[in-house]
Amino acid sequence: MKNRIAWSVLLMIALAAVAVAQNAPTAKDLFASKCAMCHGPDGSAQTTMGKNLKIRDFHSADVQKQSDTDLKTAITKGKGKMPAFAGKLTGEQIDQLVGYLREIGKQK
Ligand code: HEC
Repeated sequence: MKNRIAWSVLLMIALAAVAVAQNAPTAKDLFASKCAMCHGPDGSAQTTMGKNLKIRDFHSADVQKQSDTDLKTAITKGKGKMPAFAGKLTGEQIDQLVGYLREIGKQK
C-alpha cells in the first residue's frame, strides 16, 4: 500500500518535470515565430524591421526597467508600430513571453 503511494508520488513528479521541460522551449518558439522578424532572434532588434522601426533592444535598461505589467500591456494591446497580440496569443502565452524577455535581459 505504502509502495503504491510512493509510486504515484514519483509518477506525479515525473509528469510535472515533463510539463516544465515542454514549457521551456514554448516561449522561445513563440518568440521565434511571432516576434523575431521584428525584434530579432535574440531580441536585440538588429533586423531590417528593427532598424527601420527603431525598436529598442530587449537587453537595454529602457526595456528592462519597465514592469511585467507594462511589457504585458505592450504585447497585448500593441504600442506604436508594434501589433497587438490580444486574440492571437493567450494571456498565459503572453506571460511566458514576458518571462522570456526577462531571460533575454539577463543575457549580455
Ligand atoms: C511588426 C513588427 C513587430 C512584431 C511582429 C512584434 N513587435 Fe514588439 N515592438 C515593435 C515595435 C515597432 C515596438 C516599439 C513600439 C514603440 O515604442 O513605439 C515594439 C515594442 C515592443 C515592446 C515594448 C518594448 C519597449 O521598447 O518599450 C515589447 C515588450 C514587445 N514589443 C514585445 C513583442 C513580442 C513579445 C512580440 C511577439 C509576440 C512582438 N513584440 C512582436 C514591433 C514588433
